[in-house]
Amino acid sequence: MMDTRERLLEFLSAAEGTWVSGDDLAGRVAITRSAVWKHVRRLREEGCAIESSPRKGYLLREPPDRLNAEIITSTLRTQVFGKREVVVFSRIESTNTSAKSMALAGAPEGTLVIADTQTSGRGRKGRTWYSPVRDGLYASIILRPDLLLSQAGRIPIFASLAVAESLVSLGLSGVSLKWPNDILVRGKKIAGILTEVGAEMDAVDYMIIGVGINVNTPKFPEKLQRSATSFFLETGKRVFRNMVLTRYLTLFEKYCRVYKRGVTGRLLTRWKDLAGIMGRHVVVESAGRTSGGLVQGLDEDGALIVQDPRAGRIRVFSGDVRLQKPS
Ligand code: BTN
Repeated sequence: MMDTRERLLEFLSAAEGTWVSGDDLAGRVAITRSAVWKHVRRLREEGCAIESSPRKGYLLREPPDRLNAEIITSTLRTQVFGKREVVVFSRIESTNTSAKSMALAGAPEGTLVIADTQTSGRGRKGRTWYSPVRDGLYASIILRPDLLLSQAGRIPIFASLAVAESLVSLGLSGVSLKWPNDILVRGKKIAGILTEVGAEMDAVDYMIIGVGINVNTPKFPEKLQRSATSFFLETGKRVFRNMVLTRYLTLFEKYCRVYKRGVTGRLLTRWKDLAGIMGRHVVVESAGRTSGGLVQGLDEDGALIVQDPRAGRIRVFSGDVRLQKPS
């Protein structure tokens, strides 16, 4: 159970750097205004950067960054994502693995699993995902879309766009997307998405969309330093993981609704702009084979359309794509 000061801090951080009146705080935590003031004074003594003003109330300059289900659910501007069950672990093997067990046990769409660290964070193609404690955001959501298996590829494309745009909205520049769903800054990876699908016959039963975002990571192990970056390393600013998560989920749910209505043109254009590979020559490594050619588009199912000089027009559903170096 959280104590009063922790609850005050959580509500102040949810205000995202804006002032909260003493009355509001007192009401939310169910204490008097003078008790609020005493707790704030104590928090300041403990080194917490809270400003106060007789007219405006309280402002948290540098909130402590703790994942909190109540705050997440109450600040999310979604209808389903993160509005059902939110499960927070301080340490877990992998949020995707947990979410998958919950999905198999019948957990509803929108169930969210987040953790402060993962002991076996998983990336695509059997890679591991570096998951330092509280520096990154590790979040998996259960979806139950009414889709055929062959149509499921579009959803992670929208997730990557939502991650990219939420980071841009927090002040990050130079963001690009790498098919299928890596989020990069200046060519270094800042976030990735691991999708796992359960199907019956050819209909999707559940999808787990797991997102790893390097938020406040100050330094990467040597072997990752050339390929990975974080929001903090790029901007010099720390952001709250709760805030990154709520912005991402709010956009992601919105994009999934747009997809359901069948009007994805603008979203795909935005994805293509950020991907920067349309009309360029790429090398594709997929299912142990290397092919390549001119990128012509992204189709309805999230597949990349490539004009291969030997094989003709191919649809790439999985694998790695890189720009071909000029010969
Ligand atoms: C990739 O780019 O290779 C995908 C990385 C996905 C990492 C996230 S972290 C939360 C979720 N749980 C996992 O084990 N993996 C995903």
